[in-house]
Amino acid sequence: MKETKRVKRDSDIRVDARIKVSGKARFIEDVEFANMLHGATIRSPIPHGRIASIVNLEKIRNMPGVRAVVTANDIPGENIVPFVKQDYPCLAPDEVKFHGQAVALVAAETVEEARSAARSAEFEYEEYPAVFDAVQAMKPDAVHVGGEDNVHSYFRIRKGDVDKGFREADVIVEGVFNNKHQVHCYLENQGVVAVPESGGGISVYGSMQCPFYVQNALVKVTGIRYSGIKVVQTVTGGGFGGKEDVPSILASHAALLALRTQRPVRIIYDREEDFISMSKRHPARTRVKYGATKEGKITACEAEYIVNGGAFCTLSPIVAWRGVVHISGPYDIPNVKADSYAMATNTVPCGAFRGFGQTQANFANECLMDELAEKLDMDPVELRKRNILKTGSRTSTGQVIGESCGLEETLIKAAEKINFKQHFGRDKGIRKKGMGISTTFYGVGLGAEGEYFAKAGAQVYVKEDGSVIVAIGNVEMGQGSNTVFNRICADTLGCPYESVEVLQPDTTRVPDSGPTVASRSTMVGGRAVLDAARQVCDTFRKVAADKLGVKPFDIEVDAVDSRYRCSRGEMSYFEVVNEAYRRREKVAAQGWYRVEGCTFDQETGQGNPYSVYTYSANACEVEVDTETGQVTVTKFAAAHDIGKAIHMISAEGQIQGGTVQAIGYALHENLVLENGRILNPSLTGYTVPTSLDACDVIPIIVEHPHGEGPFGAKGLGEPPMIGSAAAILNAIYDATGIRFRHTPCLPEDIVKELSKLSI
Ligand code: MOS
Repeated sequence: MKETKRVKRDSDIRVDARIKVSGKARFIEDVEFANMLHGATIRSPIPHGRIASIVNLEKIRNMPGVRAVVTANDIPGENIVPFVKQDYPCLAPDEVKFHGQAVALVAAETVEEARSAARSAEFEYEEYPAVFDAVQAMKPDAVHVGGEDNVHSYFRIRKGDVDKGFREADVIVEGVFNNKHQVHCYLENQGVVAVPESGGGISVYGSMQCPFYVQNALVKVTGIRYSGIKVVQTVTGGGFGGKEDVPSILASHAALLALRTQRPVRIIYDREEDFISMSKRHPARTRVKYGATKEGKITACEAEYIVNGGAFCTLSPIVAWRGVVHISGPYDIPNVKADSYAMATNTVPCGAFRGFGQTQANFANECLMDELAEKLDMDPVELRKRNILKTGSRTSTGQVIGESCGLEETLIKAAEKINFKQHFGRDKGIRKKGMGISTTFYGVGLGAEGEYFAKAGAQVYVKEDGSVIVAIGNVEMGQGSNTVFNRICADTLGCPYESVEVLQPDTTRVPDSGPTVASRSTMVGGRAVLDAARQVCDTFRKVAADKLGVKPFDIEVDAVDSRYRCSRGEMSYFEVVNEAYRRREKVAAQGWYRVEGCTFDQETGQGNPYSVYTYSANACEVEVDTETGQVTVTKFAAAHDIGKAIHMISAEGQIQGGTVQAIGYALHENLVLENGRILNPSLTGYTVPTSLDACDVIPIIVEHPHGEGPFGAKGLGEPPMIGSAAAILNAIYDATGIRFRHTPCLPEDIVKELSKLSI
């Protein structure tokens, strides 16, 4: 069969750009139903204890506009929001485990009435001792919060013999690294609407990443069967992982109120409630140790990774697992021993955030690589070159990298782009420059521990005029996936990009496609679209071939000009569609893709945890103001081997956005908790980078295609967030001579350390 002709049309704008910049996109705040009520949540005032009662419950029921109050006793199904484990109650039954945990719900005629009713709740409670820190939670005498001995989950890697590896080493470095929470700060807060349907079912519309997870939760909490529950994702203003788990909670809350009142109920959090209750990036304490020969060959790596999962388990096991799989870095190391723990504490549950457990781990190992390079008196780029994964290398899990490994190319290109050269704190004056580098690899998709969800469906349906509907199960949340699906479909069918419309995901249209997480949409969702589009294209080839008097494999589909060609003549795509309709051909198809063959041995951590990896290198320059401690990132080159860029501008945008988010993680974002209570739950108290803090991130796309991805594409969503903080902290060291081993590295930290030097 002749290959489809494709070209990149880089200047093309994203399919969702127009509705978003013109204000026409209908976010959840724009979705209204007749007779709609508004929901609000009554939350725990204490981090750990027993809520005996809401003493003024009857009074709340009679407050102006209030139509219903729902507590744990009113749940028709099970009081569980299901995630990896079944430990998270939809509403606190009596024991509460974190400040802000949902205890009861109110529905009222207006948002103000609902919120003021919820705020007026008065409790009778008994407070228990609490533990807020993951390392404290490990102590034998720690208060019990959850899991077995407060361990939500534990994973390990055992490869080779680390003791032998360290004996063979000429140089050993070791460090303990700490990270605080990070808040997603998507522009659009969490929000859903639940609508009771006449047949007894329920429909939920909302801002979310995982409609099928929401559906699972609704089935559990309402007791309604799957076919009676419809979940539709509305245009979503950012997720970054924060809309992986939390929407299941909001949706079950809204559904409980809607079922109780038999009216549509909308719940949208304000920024403060969003900050207090939603999942965050796990705080982490990471200890890493590397040994290397004086030639710079790493002989051993030992690591211990402890993350604070908060009061309930949610996604912590997979976060801890992804962390441990990647913690020794993108290097071929013969001896690796690593342990990871997700701990239970009396803080808000942590969940998914771009990088998903790799961000903290990578911060530790890449900062330590810098220390290793220094101790070896070796250029950090050179040290990495001597150890990085290449085709044929073995990872810490013993996986052989079979194909598509452009790590060395990313390293060389990122370093070259900013003329990477260390300063060694030699700059005189108040403002000192420094450069830093980091590398990462990223297992694309859910991997062995999430393989159950590693599937995706799509439907491609060509209409009479040649316009195409694509129904998918993976969501657009700003990352650009709808544009990618549009391109994959149009380039396969040979039609103009403008002809293809990608619908909002709806659980009644597409089979369960797993979650939209783990940078998997392009690779896995993309394969499903490709599968469906190919089936329709095969029909079109047959139709065109028959009409033109040749065999189907003689037809060349030209996606550039939207034509079906052969030596005997040609037809436009639209003529082919017309002919297909005249012949009553099937012009719609279901596509499907599932990832297979991922393995992970729980005892040894050996296996092929992911089938595909993305590789990245970051090189940056910072300027440190030694008087104020202010750090400015002045140059940042980020090179990513993503197999193939399906839509270049979106890919570059992912790199720029992720990197700026990492600048915030490294330098600005400081969530302050006191006794489990968040003290700065706002965008004034918790500062994310603005456009003024963002530097001109130079994206470098490296393309080593992978056979599994559509047109060779791998995943990109998370890698730009993962390695960048280490590169920045390494650059701060290069500028100042001070090793900071934590994030956020704030101006006051820098001033404090510098003042010690000058004493
Ligand atoms: Mo993503 S952090 O895997 O939602």
